[in-house]
Amino acid sequence: MQEGRGKSRLVMNKFMPLTHTKDLFAKALKGKYALGAFNVNNMELIQAIIEACEEEKAPLILQISKGARQYANPVYLKKLIEAAVSVSNIPIAVHLDHGDTFELCKQCIDEGFTSVMIDASHEAFDKNVEITRKVVEYAHKFNCSVESELGHLVGAQFDEGEEGGAHSMSGHYTVPEEAVKFVRDSGCDSLAIAIGNSHGAYKFKGEQHLDLERLKLIKQALLDANLGDYPLVLHGASSVPKYLVDEINRYGGKMPDAQGVPEADIEVARRVGCTKVNIDTDLRMAMTAGIRKVFAEKPGEFDPRKFLGPARQMVKDLVRHKVKNVLCSAGHAFD
Ligand code: G3H
Ligand code: 13P
Ligand code: ZN
Repeated sequence: MQEGRGKSRLVMNKFMPLTHTKDLFAKALKGKYALGAFNVNNMELIQAIIEACEEEKAPLILQISKGARQYANPVYLKKLIEAAVSVSNIPIAVHLDHGDTFELCKQCIDEGFTSVMIDASHEAFDKNVEITRKVVEYAHKFNCSVESELGHLVGAQFDEGEEGGAHSMSGHYTVPEEAVKFVRDSGCDSLAIAIGNSHGAYKFKGEQHLDLERLKLIKQALLDANLGDYPLVLHGASSVPKYLVDEINRYGGKMPDAQGVPEADIEVARRVGCTKVNIDTDLRMAMTAGIRKVFAEKPGEFDPRKFLGPARQMVKDLVRHKVKNVLCSAGHAFD
């Protein structure tokens, strides 16, 4: 194990029983709710997410980025997730977020992840298909699902829409007919789409919007092409809640003009067919707000439990809200 902090002498065993991403997708499509795919890097985030979903009886996906593996060491993350699985009853899947090479995807498949994302969206269409196809061929031998991405997550502030770009045949945004061809040619199990979404806390300048009409057309094109109720994935789905921006700024932070996707847009995206909704920034902001408040109000405090505890509670409250009021996955754990 060469990644991240410390080199493990352990050979990574597969994860203890997880719920398969594929099974979660099938139920979510049937129940018309979206699965929260929450990024994790440390114990407090994992605990907050699991506790919130356990209390709300919401199935979920924990996702791990390359950066998370480098930060925490894959063995630590695996053991923390195993601990979470062992103390909870809800269905939990584990997903690689934004895998950038076949080798990283293979490593996660070998470790027992229930799904991986291969992100070759910066490549030309044919190259993206070729790389995705290679991951799919390996993953499917091990019953692992593959998410890929078509289009480019530049966000609406660079709203070039149909203007050229190498990654897609016709521009930054996902084109419905290309989505059909991409899914057919690559064999991927779910598709991340670009409809004006982007990562981070500064998603929009001025009007905040996703191209939801385009989303409807993509879903319909896949249906018309007999690809069924095909699962789409919405990256960059943090809403950057105003109360968190205000709290961070009130306690010494500096996040002017932070803006996310309106929750109303996420709800429409869910109804139209975004079955997996990726959230990271909102978790980071909740944690930051919680820590900043303690630091500002109790400058003498130096016990990490006294600031990580409240921060964990802030993340938990946020996740509860998401699964209950936005994703509508609450109550579906045992369907
Ligand atoms: O889409 C990116 C996720 O928010 C993960 O971010 O690569 O900084 O871990 P990261
Ligand atoms: P946010 O930055 O909006 O949380 O998006 C996270 C994401 O898409 C992870 O893949
Ligand atoms: Zn993403």
